[in-house]
Amino acid sequence: MASLSELAREHTALDEEEIRHIRRLVRSWGLLADLSFSDLLLFVPTADDNGSFVVLGHVRPSTGQTMYRADPVGQTFRSSERPLVRQSYHHGQIQQGELSLRLTFDELVKVESVPVKGPSGIVAVMTSEAHIDPDRLYSELERTYAHTYQRFAHMVRNAEFPFKIQEEGRFRAPRVGDGTVVLDQDLKVDFASPNAVSAFHRLGVHRNLFGLSFPSLSIGDDEVKKAAKEHRPMIVELEHSRETTVVMHFLPLLVDGELTGGLLVLRDISDLRRRDRLLLSKEATIREIHHRVKNNLQTISSLLRLQSRRVDSPEAKSALDESVRRIASIALVHETLSQDTGEDYDTGDDVVLVELVKPLVRMVEESVVLPGRPIRIQVSGDAGVVPSEVAMPLSVVITELLQNTADHAFGGKRDEPGQVSVQLDRDREVLYLSVEDDGQGLPAGFDLADTGLGLTIVQAFVRDELGGTIEMSERNGPEHPVGTRVALTVPLSGRRRSDRI
Ligand SMILES: Nc1ncnc2c1ncn2[C@@H]1O[C@H](COP(=O)(O)OP(=O)(O)OP(=O)(O)O)[C@@H](O)[C@H]1O
Ligand SMILES: [Mg+2]
Repeated sequence: MASLSELAREHTALDEEEIRHIRRLVRSWGLLADLSFSDLLLFVPTADDNGSFVVLGHVRPSTGQTMYRADPVGQTFRSSERPLVRQSYHHGQIQQGELSLRLTFDELVKVESVPVKGPSGIVAVMTSEAHIDPDRLYSELERTYAHTYQRFAHMVRNAEFPFKIQEEGRFRAPRVGDGTVVLDQDLKVDFASPNAVSAFHRLGVHRNLFGLSFPSLSIGDDEVKKAAKEHRPMIVELEHSRETTVVMHFLPLLVDGELTGGLLVLRDISDLRRRDRLLLSKEATIREIHHRVKNNLQTISSLLRLQSRRVDSPEAKSALDESVRRIASIALVHETLSQDTGEDYDTGDDVVLVELVKPLVRMVEESVVLPGRPIRIQVSGDAGVVPSEVAMPLSVVITELLQNTADHAFGGKRDEPGQVSVQLDRDREVLYLSVEDDGQGLPAGFDLADTGLGLTIVQAFVRDELGGTIEMSERNGPEHPVGTRVALTVPLSGRRRSDRI
């Protein structure tokens, strides 16, 4: 369906500023439909100047029955079919009357037409249309709502509603919702709907609201006072003992630029906030757990380091030292997971892989690169976000591969620093990771099936744990061995869940 702006440009002679004005009205008129218990329609003269009007907007009341099952937007009416609309448009007056409408069947409808004044004169006519029921007795609430609608209707005619601030997008007039309060010009409570009374009870206000000056209820007072003074609408979120959260809208009621009162519309969003809070505390708990795991791993590392200092056998010593290093890379993942990303969106238990790889590389540089054998490690590419179950084993794998470049690629002493590059890539649900060096290449007869502990761990993690593949080759073919390339692929969907780490 065409948007209001599209319809306006196609069928009417409205300019862009005028279109903006009626768009603002349509964004916020749900409240007016609720207050009037009526359907609201917006009529604008067609561009061909033959006296016809096109319907550019329609909203149904949430407080009553709709007159229109089918959507009237886009329909065109001759002015003889809608005499009240024509009169309001040409004479600038609010008109009331009755209309026989052929909707589902012939019906007599009560219509009120309100000229909509824009920045430079009348741009449209808003009608409110409801069934006529002569036998019906109206309650105080209905009478108050209807009267409040009248006050807004006059503001529409005087270009005082919709409020300019609505243009900013954030502000949107609410629906009648969970209660309304009408304030007089001194901001004393004139009327409070039963739902509003209950909402204030939940907010801890148990006094009889009627006649109370609003700026003494001690909830949202300052905001309301300030907005009333500046003749602008505002929203404030009120909370009581963490149990109840109510959003309160204030809309000033104006007559010829003077404040004559205000409307408060309340909406109880306690359930929403409760869920938010639950989610937040759950997340905080998960972060705390990662934090503790990291601390525990550090304790384990210290124990092993102590032990390594006490053993005499160089083999045992280096075995213990390597375990310390392996544990450190796992601890690093937990550290990353325990940090609040501070982003708007939350990655939950997922990790942005490069953000893990970079500190990992720094750690390896600090621990394995010795002054006599300089190595430069570069990280390139991006593999996006991966689940922590993948990040854990991968961090161990990357550490092993980097360790190997330091241990085996560059032989004895070198003048030029060895170049190592870690590349990350991602094609939808497959992750590609490679570690390359420009060293002396793999030894003759190298066989992945018969390796040391390092590559055994790598293979176990990549193949068994992650269901991926691993390839090790010399970089530029066997004739010109310049370095080693290890390439991994890891599928991210249909993975077996980790049960090892
Ligand atoms: N980047 C590399 N360049 C040259 N040779 C390599 C490279 N990576 C691995 N190798 C060879 O593969 C062998 C097996 O590596 P692996 O990591 O399994 O064991 P290790 O490094 O010898 O011992 P550990 O990792 O248990 O301390 C190495 O001894 C080395 O000969
Ligand atoms: Mg190794």
